[in-house]
Amino acid sequence: MVRPDGQILIIFGASGDLTRRKLIPALYNLWLKNFLPIQFSILGVSRTSFSDEDFRKQMQVALQDEIKPALKPIEGFLSLLHYISINTEEPEDYFKLKERLRVLSNELSVSDNYIFYLASPPLLYPAISESLSRQGLSDETSGWKRIIVEKPFGYDYKSAQNLNLHLHRFFSEEQLFRIDHYLGKETVQNIMVTRFVNGFYEPVWNRNFIERVEITATENIGVENRGGYYDTAGALRDMVQNHLMHLLSYVAMEPPASADQNAIHNEVLKVFQCLRIFGADEVEKFVIRGQYTESKIAGKQVTGYRQERGVSESSKTETYVAIKAFIDNWRWAGVPFYIRTGKRMPTRVTEVVIYFRPAPYHIFCTNHEIENQINQLIIRIQPDEGLLLKFGMKVPGSGFMVQPVNMDFHYSNLDGAYIPSAYERLLLDCMNGDSTLYSRADAVEATWRFLEPIQYAWKHPDSKVYGYLAGTWGPEAANLFFDKRGQIWRYPCKNLTNDGEYCEL
Ligand code: BG6
Repeated sequence: MVRPDGQILIIFGASGDLTRRKLIPALYNLWLKNFLPIQFSILGVSRTSFSDEDFRKQMQVALQDEIKPALKPIEGFLSLLHYISINTEEPEDYFKLKERLRVLSNELSVSDNYIFYLASPPLLYPAISESLSRQGLSDETSGWKRIIVEKPFGYDYKSAQNLNLHLHRFFSEEQLFRIDHYLGKETVQNIMVTRFVNGFYEPVWNRNFIERVEITATENIGVENRGGYYDTAGALRDMVQNHLMHLLSYVAMEPPASADQNAIHNEVLKVFQCLRIFGADEVEKFVIRGQYTESKIAGKQVTGYRQERGVSESSKTETYVAIKAFIDNWRWAGVPFYIRTGKRMPTRVTEVVIYFRPAPYHIFCTNHEIENQINQLIIRIQPDEGLLLKFGMKVPGSGFMVQPVNMDFHYSNLDGAYIPSAYERLLLDCMNGDSTLYSRADAVEATWRFLEPIQYAWKHPDSKVYGYLAGTWGPEAANLFFDKRGQIWRYPCKNLTNDGEYCEL
């Protein structure tokens, strides 16, 4: 593998959670595999005052917590780490940063190739990008400059548009990398490969053969220690606008003209542009929001959302959202895309279910129960990554009885395949200047445009928030979405709690 150009990665928000939990472990793994540039440094930036040595110690602890590299070498990696404390809201302080970068580049004997990773609170993105540019740190005369912007990218259509406008004043679109870690997941990328490498899927991948599509991303954890952030975000902003929208785009897109980043981004954008925008009076019919309430899971008392730290006692923020979406184009006209995500659900699972239309006429004996378990392709994003095809088979013996069976591929069966974490893949792509798995400005704005009427409708004081007991599959109202008898959400584990204890808050 050709290693990326010599460069420096500058992480804003270096003392934060994302740096400790995701970025440093990903960089360490890349280092272990010799994927990092030969001349490379990481410069942590934040307000807290640390020396290089303090920062290294902190990151060593973080690595031990996250990936326990006790028996593996770590000193070589730690020596790549440096630190500078600046007040990111103070434009003058960026001169210190520039000077530090000049010294580090000289030590490495590399051009001024820099990636600025904004892992800081989104409120600071405008100030950081502007101050970098004022110091000439977006100028590419003496080396390329790239900037990675973490989610959430805006909080509605207007703010996302403004953020794009602001960033474009200082950085070109080619320099901007809007990160969505779901696109870094192997199994998400594999959706495109599955569709466009195997000749047998594409002819049936349309409204003639597919009845409906279901996309689920649930978690069994609650909001943990992120109540303050989450209460201002909710599931729609936290999961739907980015992760679920991208999954949907990969399932629904047309074949791109090539594997080129722009060709792929063009097709992603078209999907978002074809999403049917709900009218104000349709939101209640097509979108359900829920919030988990106190309950007992496996005998253990679990806190309700409103009792979580940092959450308002009268919060209407959704911890669950289900949407029945439509993509109004030739391929998908009339096919519902059922999307749901939630916290404190029975299990952590992300999957896409393609429900093919049933056989047009039944010669052999089946019933609704069997029908509902066959003609399905399940793309398991996580955990137990793989592909599962559920179909009907003859029960051995006399007659023609039918039973559902599975054809199941697990990534874990691939010999010696190393599945990099999403952040490893995405960081490496940015180091190589490849933005295929990052979001383009127009696509981000198009997703917000789709969500705008929902956000608007939810501001109405009469808009409903359904309660669901922590540990259950969400509000019952979400089951009323389905068009036909017997259609229900797939419940991907056995411990479905179906006790009918639903309520409206
Ligand atoms: C993040 C959200 O983007 O994705 C979190 O902010 C969520 O709330 C997380 O828990 C889920 O990611 P993953 O990779 O664990 O499915």
